[in-house]
Amino acid sequence: MKYLVYGASGGVGRGVVNLLLKRGESVIGCTRKPSLQKSEINLTWIEVNTESPEKGTAFLKGIDKVFLMSPPGHMDQYSLLKPWIDESKKQGVKKIVLMTAMGIEHAPPEVPFKKLELYLQESGIDYIILRPNWFMQNFQTSWLSGIKKDRKIYFPGGTAKVSFIDSEDIAKSVVGAFEDSVEKNRAYMLTGREAINHSEVASYLSKATGITISYDDISSERFVSMLLENGVKQDYANFLAYIASALKEGHSIAITGDVKYLAGKEPTKFEEYAKENSSIWI
Ligand SMILES: NC(=O)c1ccc[n+]([C@@H]2O[C@H](COP(=O)([O-])OP(=O)(O)OC[C@H]3O[C@@H](n4cnc5c(N)ncnc54)[C@H](OP(=O)(O)O)[C@@H]3O)[C@@H](O)[C@H]2O)c1
Repeated sequence: MKYLVYGASGGVGRGVVNLLLKRGESVIGCTRKPSLQKSEINLTWIEVNTESPEKGTAFLKGIDKVFLMSPPGHMDQYSLLKPWIDESKKQGVKKIVLMTAMGIEHAPPEVPFKKLELYLQESGIDYIILRPNWFMQNFQTSWLSGIKKDRKIYFPGGTAKVSFIDSEDIAKSVVGAFEDSVEKNRAYMLTGREAINHSEVASYLSKATGITISYDDISSERFVSMLLENGVKQDYANFLAYIASALKEGHSIAITGDVKYLAGKEPTKFEEYAKENSSIWI
């Protein structure tokens, strides 16, 4: 079987590629910089860029199944990925697995991520939409500098509990979603198996590293200015502050059995993730 993976060098995409290669599948991986990627048997890197969304779509010819995701920082996910759905349809792709985000189900139809989901649903191609909750990996990427510099998690999350998910479990769920045996043409909500608040996250990180890491429940305004200082664009910073406020109101607490169903395993617990990755925060 031939697969195409968008965002193939990213946190989720790289995991999907690795799992597919391990099974002996043939994969086309999308990146902005193919020359910087490691070459491997059965893996072909192609150049794509959201600045010209159609670039690379010609490689969909002969592809059986596709994984689509929108690179973070981009607000118009619909315009970025619509050409990939259109060309997939033209080329007779058998299934598209699209990753959006938990909560999109409540968004109005004109919100680009929701508009993209609806477009895929109406495309006539077999699909699965995966809506993951907040990633555990944010603590090793987006929120890492505060942890390294000040030993603090800066986030406007209050005391709300969140069923954080390990991005490796998302990758395993994507590969599970490619299987013909799973119920198709529907969405799944990917969550961890427990819901914890940011103070509990800080305790797990402290326990795993032996360093005292604390949680600073900052205001939404401070969160936005910290994101801007880190190079995040204003519209995406506002969007992150908006979804953080939904988290604070308790909307990220749900726990589903969808990872177990798709990936065939229980989701990783935050404590396990922290232990396994402790060197990142030291
Ligand atoms: N973080 C969370 O808590 C969370 C929660 C729910 C949903 N999500 C969703 O998950 C997605 C992020 O997934 P991730 O963490 O796996 O992302 P990631 O690790 O940041 O990877 C981004 C991927 O996109 C590629 N990319 C970046 N800019 C690009 C551009 N301009 N054109 C084409 N490709 C580009 C990167 O490749 P190169 O750099 O090699 O080009 C990389 O492969 C987003 O859609 C976000 O909404 C995130």
